[in-house]
Amino acid sequence: MTVVAHVSDIHFGRELPEAVAALLADLAMLRPDVVVVSGDLTQSARRTEFAQARAFLDRMPAPVLVVPGNHDIVAVPLSERFLVPFRRWRHFIADGLSPEWSDAEVLIRGVNSARPFGPYLNWSRGIVSAAQVEALATAEKDPRPLLVAAHHPVAYGNDTARAYDLVTGAERLLATLARRPKSVLLLGHRHRSHASLWNPAAGERPAASGDRLAGDDRLAADDVLILHAGSATSDRLRGEVNAWNHITVGEGGISVAVRRFVAGRWDEAERLVLTWPA
Ligand SMILES: [Fe+2]
Repeated sequence: MTVVAHVSDIHFGRELPEAVAALLADLAMLRPDVVVVSGDLTQSARRTEFAQARAFLDRMPAPVLVVPGNHDIVAVPLSERFLVPFRRWRHFIADGLSPEWSDAEVLIRGVNSARPFGPYLNWSRGIVSAAQVEALATAEKDPRPLLVAAHHPVAYGNDTARAYDLVTGAERLLATLARRPKSVLLLGHRHRSHASLWNPAAGERPAASGDRLAGDDRLAADDVLILHAGSATSDRLRGEVNAWNHITVGEGGISVAVRRFVAGRWDEAERLVLTWPA
């Protein structure tokens, strides 16, 4: 069994100090094997915010795998944004933008979906390139579950208003992951916890309704499990409370407990349990 803490959208600069302190204590208590941070460690990519993010990561009770979000790219000066968009990220957070972590039971890959600009007006959007998806295909034959961490949404989930643009390359990423069983996406950006399933024939469908599963709890071989973590520590909550995903990956399946920050403490709010394909 491997325990993965999936936290996202920390947003130093707009963080709630009491949620940060309590989160560090919650993680120390639950002792995950690895902590995955799916982007937006800062609000405005300021050096002071990155320094806070660095200190936060240094206090994690386990190895950390982290990918950037759109907020982690400096907005101004534009010269820095266009020419060296990840300079501050590399200085404070991590050298590589495609981090990996694995143990005997699970393979985790990070994919950077944040871009300084793109062929669209809304520069908070992201891209997963063909080369990035191709790099993931090398894990196709690996029998271990594959968890892919990225920042931007690949499907609309419970966002009925479709307020967010999907990451460019979403279909290609999903279709590639669907070619291998036991594929899971760990995403952020929306500041809302959500779980859904995607496969090439049916598209996206809810993974759970309330705390009960909608239908069978056994994943199909071509199902991709899409998990969004809420914002762990920021005050930008979009109608939800702060949340993170406490994930257990085992031989038989995967369990996802959403931990929410209510009345000054973190507690498990709901749990989804899915069995791997036979
Ligand atoms: Fe965010």
